[in-house]
Amino acid sequence: MTQDELKALVGRAALAFVPDGAIVGVGTGSTVNHFIDALATRKDRIAGAVSSSEGSSARLRAHGIAVLDAQAVQRLPVYVDGADEIDGHGCMIKGGGAALTREKIVADLAERFVCIADQSKRVAVLGAFPLPVEVIPMAVAQITRRFAALGGTATLREGVRTDNGLPILDVRGLAIQDPPALETEINQWPGVVTVGIFARHRASLCLLGTAQGVQQIDF
Ligand code: A5P
Repeated sequence: MTQDELKALVGRAALAFVPDGAIVGVGTGSTVNHFIDALATRKDRIAGAVSSSEGSSARLRAHGIAVLDAQAVQRLPVYVDGADEIDGHGCMIKGGGAALTREKIVADLAERFVCIADQSKRVAVLGAFPLPVEVIPMAVAQITRRFAALGGTATLREGVRTDNGLPILDVRGLAIQDPPALETEINQWPGVVTVGIFARHRASLCLLGTAQGVQQIDF
């Protein structure tokens, strides 16, 4: 199977975790696009979606699925999203699609985070994928120096602004041995809006697309 076929496989498999009548938290990316397309086949059985990006909102609406304001919702039964990397504890790097801030906000509303990913995303230690960090522009130089002190090289993602109108730094060279600790540390730095380490909002379970089929990993 191709990587895209594996993404489609787990996108469909995630439907099993969507309760009837639910408002569904919906992430962002090529894997989630398959989930959205699958969700459309049962749109009459859900109450709507809370979306983590303008891109996902547009795709949901194109399918006739109602997109609700996150602020109108107190709790979601499930949030379904992809990852750039996921480790053996369900901690993830996210933000390759620049949606990390809204992704973390919607994940925070959810009882359960269902990560859908092809097998290439499964890693022993996070950090080979450049760590995305959404930042306030005037803090870029200082945040870059702080990452350098940790052994990381931060570069601005050229020509990219998030849905919040802010730049993204991509940080290379980090081997993230303790994701909750590093997430907490970076969260303290002035000018950091969101770091793409999802440890405090890690996956509850992962549906991993493999050549043998969908592997469910519970954390
Ligand atoms: C979006 O900002 C990211 O967090 C995505 O969830 C992540 O990049 C996975 O994307 P793909 O499903 O396209 O690989």
